[in-house]
Amino acid sequence: MAFTFFFRDINTLENGVKQLLPNVVGKSKIKIWDAGCAMGPEPYSLAIILAEQMGKFAFKNVSITASDIDGSNLFDKIISDGVYSQTELGRIPKELFEKYFTKVNSDEDKYKIVDEIRLKLKFVKHDLLTLKPVDSNFNLIICKNVLLHFNYEERIEVIKMFHNSLDTNGVFATEQTQKIPQEIEHLFERLIPNGQVFKKVNV
Ligand SMILES: C[S@@+](CC[C@H](N)C(=O)[O-])C[C@H]1O[C@@H](n2cnc3c(N)ncnc32)[C@H](O)[C@@H]1O
Repeated sequence: MAFTFFFRDINTLENGVKQLLPNVVGKSKIKIWDAGCAMGPEPYSLAIILAEQMGKFAFKNVSITASDIDGSNLFDKIISDGVYSQTELGRIPKELFEKYFTKVNSDEDKYKIVDEIRLKLKFVKHDLLTLKPVDSNFNLIICKNVLLHFNYEERIEVIKMFHNSLDTNGVFATEQTQKIPQEIEHLFERLIPNGQVFKKVNV
């Protein structure tokens, strides 16, 4: 199973959302891609942050494509069910946990994410190294703790694919320790000094 947890590296998710919001005011479609989403904690955390920061009305326009190579073939069901154990949900702030999860009656330890959030995610089984994006014109692409699995040349090609899949002014966020390779630095403008959150540069 892939290593992941709810609210992991919350700063990067929050900063990605913060940079996204001014670009999507009034848009009827806000497209987000979480690439390498594992079993769902990251895209669901992202969706919760979006719902909190955008408000109900604007959040209705959000769609999140969550993709993973998923060697286990289990992620689609786990994500579409949206049911997780209490241990997996332990890091979610109490007020958000109470707002966005309901107890599954048949099992004391299991909680289901509310439909308002659950139905925003669509899982797609997808290998990033095919270099074929899952869709185009994304307003935000998150890819955390995935690029480190690729060699340097693969990383360049995958990040170039993300660049091509972003809408004008689209935002790309990755983990703190990941750097944009020098060869493609010109494709992105860094948006914050203390995190890996970038705006697409149109070339
Ligand atoms: C460590 S997990 C990261 C999960 C989540 N992004 C996070 O930061 O918590 C890495 C994920 O990358 C996925 N992955 C590895 N190679 C991939 C590829 N070529 N295409 C798509 N996903 C891949 C793995 O299946 C795994 O779910």
